[in-house]
Amino acid sequence: MTGPLPGEELPGEELLVERLRQGGRLSVVTGAGVSAASGVPTFRDAGGLWRGFRAEELATPQAFARDPEAVWEWYDWRRGQIAACDPNPAHETLAAWSRRPGFRLVTQNVDGLHERAGTEAVVRFHGSIWELGCWDGCAEAPARWWDDSVPLDPRPPRCPACGGLARPGVVWFGEGIDPAVLEAALGATACDVFLVVGTSSLVHPAAGLIDEARRQGAFTVEINPEATPVSESADLVLPGPAEAVLPRVDAALT
Ligand code: OAD
Repeated sequence: MTGPLPGEELPGEELLVERLRQGGRLSVVTGAGVSAASGVPTFRDAGGLWRGFRAEELATPQAFARDPEAVWEWYDWRRGQIAACDPNPAHETLAAWSRRPGFRLVTQNVDGLHERAGTEAVVRFHGSIWELGCWDGCAEAPARWWDDSVPLDPRPPRCPACGGLARPGVVWFGEGIDPAVLEAALGATACDVFLVVGTSSLVHPAAGLIDEARRQGAFTVEINPEATPVSESADLVLPGPAEAVLPRVDAALT
């Protein structure tokens, strides 16, 4: 047998426990890996494709302008998948930690599972799959509105104000991050412990937050069964699944 058994403590976990016991400010950035155990497919692992397309080919303004029906069909399919999923022990542990003073959570996930687990004030770096916006950006519609109907009817959905096309309330490749969201995420890099969980750390600017946290003196930790571009520079790498590592660290804290 090579490597630790499932459920067995990883080397270095006690270092994270020790840091968290000190009670400083904890900030966490999550990616699709945190929802993997809930059954939400990640983007870049096997299962991340839809009809042979990669997310980068569908999640763009150009793809939507070309074929809004196809892009909405993909989002409708993902919304249906997510609606059938529940938060897992990784989300639940982070929800419990969100009651620590100074805790901040920035997620790249659009699935809403952190909120469903009870985490408040989540910084949704890439928006929400449960929100819609007016594709034309008409002045009468709110910037984003909630719509959790599954399946969508009609599809593609329409803007309630101008009757034009609605778009998913997510950040697409090539689009900027909302300045207030970016500010909140940068604010979270001022902390004592900075955890990066379940992200391939390939998509910027989210992937650069860990460097900013380290620059400001945070103890940086990555939790991911696979190595990523930030593994080399993180102070501690815990190469295990989030749904096992986080509850184990939490149990050791109490
Ligand atoms: P990816 O699919 O790129 O990466 C998922 C990461 O989760 C990989 O590094 C896996 O090794 C890891 N992983 C898988 N199972 C895990 C588990 N049980 N516990 C911990 N980690 C696990 O997803 P993201 O990094 O979130 O953007 O992708 C970043 C962005 O690219 C997304 O927000 C989305 C995407 O295209 C937009 O749509 C703009």
